[in-house]
Amino acid sequence: MSTLWGGRFSGALDAQMKQFNDSISFDIRLWEADITGSMAYARALARAGLLTDDELRTLLDGLAAIRAEFAQGAFAVQPTDEDIHTAVERRLKELVGEVAGKLHTGRSRNDQVATDLRLFALKATYELIGALLKVQEALLTQAEPHTETLMPGYTHLQRAQPVSFAHWCLSHFWPLARDADRMLDCARRTAALPLGSGALAGNPFGIARHALARDLGFHAITQNSIDGVGDRDFVAELLFDCALIGVHLSQLAEDLIVFSTAEFGFVTFDDAFATGSSLMPQKKNPDAMELARGKSGRLIGNLVSVLTMLKGLPMAYNKDLQEDKEPLFDSLDTLRLTLPVVAGAVRTLRVNAERMAAALEPAMLATDVAEYLVRKGVPFREAHHLTGRAVALAEQRGISLQDLTPSDWRSISPQFGTDVAQVFDFRQSLASRAVDGGTAPEAVRRQLRSARQEWMQLKQRVDTP
Ligand code: ARG
Repeated sequence: MSTLWGGRFSGALDAQMKQFNDSISFDIRLWEADITGSMAYARALARAGLLTDDELRTLLDGLAAIRAEFAQGAFAVQPTDEDIHTAVERRLKELVGEVAGKLHTGRSRNDQVATDLRLFALKATYELIGALLKVQEALLTQAEPHTETLMPGYTHLQRAQPVSFAHWCLSHFWPLARDADRMLDCARRTAALPLGSGALAGNPFGIARHALARDLGFHAITQNSIDGVGDRDFVAELLFDCALIGVHLSQLAEDLIVFSTAEFGFVTFDDAFATGSSLMPQKKNPDAMELARGKSGRLIGNLVSVLTMLKGLPMAYNKDLQEDKEPLFDSLDTLRLTLPVVAGAVRTLRVNAERMAAALEPAMLATDVAEYLVRKGVPFREAHHLTGRAVALAEQRGISLQDLTPSDWRSISPQFGTDVAQVFDFRQSLASRAVDGGTAPEAVRRQLRSARQEWMQLKQRVDTP
């Protein structure tokens, strides 16, 4: 017999059908989870009285030997191995003989693969958060010395109001903190054990599922065997988390690409994270950031691919579910490559404070002029309108807002005194926004403290799941 299910079949599988059906080429990556799951299941069988102590020992030794083969790269996949589950069982039989046939008692590949994939996803989640924390660390390191470094803040990519470079750095820290928190939350739901669901109707041999769950490090068991084998929410959720991380990295990358142009010149990438052009000798391209931005496409695609695969499924397990793995692996691999590069590029970024300061223009303090009027009791709408007229007048004269004369100001409104000149101070503008979450140096120093605290808490939750 060459398949696990060959009993009722007489003819061989069509060659192309076999290739179509097999998943070993990609699900071989589940080997460690599969062996861990099988070891725990063997112990559960023994606890239920379905294996003698000797049989248990034999199965565990055999599985340990297979694990060693995989770890050494010595496991030989055979043409008959349909997927990782059949491969491990086939090898176990070669190593320990007929008793291997007892391991699958009451178990189906349906609850087995759901369990394997959850174990795999959990491990990957924690690794991913670790890599995410390194990007945050790089942002914190860059922010630290720059709470007083002025730069133009943009909305619609138009100069808006002065902010500090540290404030910009931290604006990219918090989205990643939400991502890490979201992944930890997703991990809590992922850590529910489907094993014991059987094919769809439940295990008939009195397997103690809670003990099995504890053995595998799961916090809970799935509550319905039909749902247990069909549920891939944890895959979709993790893919969403990956996609949103991709979007956040892409936005960070886009800012840095713009900031690194000759036109802006705010930052310079280290040579280790930039590349040249094969034709134009002068070029230094921000490829690291462009790839980070570009890869967000496949991260979103993988999420859409799995959601689409799931949407029309009837109850319980269907082979469509085999299509859950490649998108998941691809998103995890993509971020595993992307995150350290983004961390490195951010960490080694050179900040050009003079260029940032030179890009500030007095018109960016127009809001502060309106606020000056508000402090004199002028309603904000009126203040906004009067300041707009001052901007128009300066524009019409071809001068900067700051260079309007006292009589120019007075001609617009008697509320403008000579002290309006004092408004034109970028540092003062920054300092005035001392509200929590604002860009004032003292507020950003407080923000930095909360960010470090948040980072430490995330780190703790990752280190002690
Ligand atoms: N290779 C399959 C998958 O990845 C394992 C489960 C197969 N179950 C089945 N009833 N054919 O989904």
